[in-house]
Amino acid sequence: MTISTRPMEDKDLDRVTYMEECSFSMPWKREDFKRLIDDEGSTYLVIEADGEVVGAAGYTDQVGVGYINNVVIDEGFRGRKLSYKLMKALLDDGISRGLTDFTLEVRVSNLPAVRLYEGLGFKSAGVRKNFYERPVEDAYVMWLYTSQRGQ
Ligand SMILES: CC(C)(COP(=O)(O)OP(=O)(O)OC[C@H]1O[C@@H](n2cnc3c(N)ncnc32)[C@H](O)[C@@H]1OP(=O)(O)O)[C@@H](O)C(=O)NCCC(=O)NCCS
Repeated sequence: MTISTRPMEDKDLDRVTYMEECSFSMPWKREDFKRLIDDEGSTYLVIEADGEVVGAAGYTDQVGVGYINNVVIDEGFRGRKLSYKLMKALLDDGISRGLTDFTLEVRVSNLPAVRLYEGLGFKSAGVRKNFYERPVEDAYVMWLYTSQRGQ
């Protein structure tokens, strides 16, 4: 299987929106992704397996901090660590643009996602109570400080 990442384009919007709808109780809409493609402060990448888009992830530069706002892998392609490749490419993109710190929220019950972020070096800095709806659930607020790598 040939794996590659590239910036999301308008042609990917239907596919990414479909993966989103399959994966979240309150999915982002097509226009949400379109806005990110057009936003200079945001980067959104897709990951392809043999030329087919099977995942997507993005961040927004919020006053010098990379806010990871969405990560999804197609159900049929989970459990193969594709999210690590995608997230590493995303973090490298942010670092190449001068970002050193990244943050995100994740449902406390979302073990695959928590494991993914921990595996990339993110650490929980606390819990945001009742952050999510449908169902109501707490979020871990996680941070990655890449400037501290190797210390
Ligand atoms: C979260 C997500 C992106 C992970 O993608 P993936 O490429 O399938 O990730 P993998 O399953 O290969 O690896 C993730 C880690 O979770 C672990 N994991 C997978 N399923 C698990 C489970 N049910 N319980 C505990 N750990 C689990 C894996 O072992 C791996 O950990 P490791 O690297 O320490 O071995 C994917 O599950 C997804 O798209 N979920 C729906 C959308 C979502 O929740 N996005 C995150 C929102 S914050």
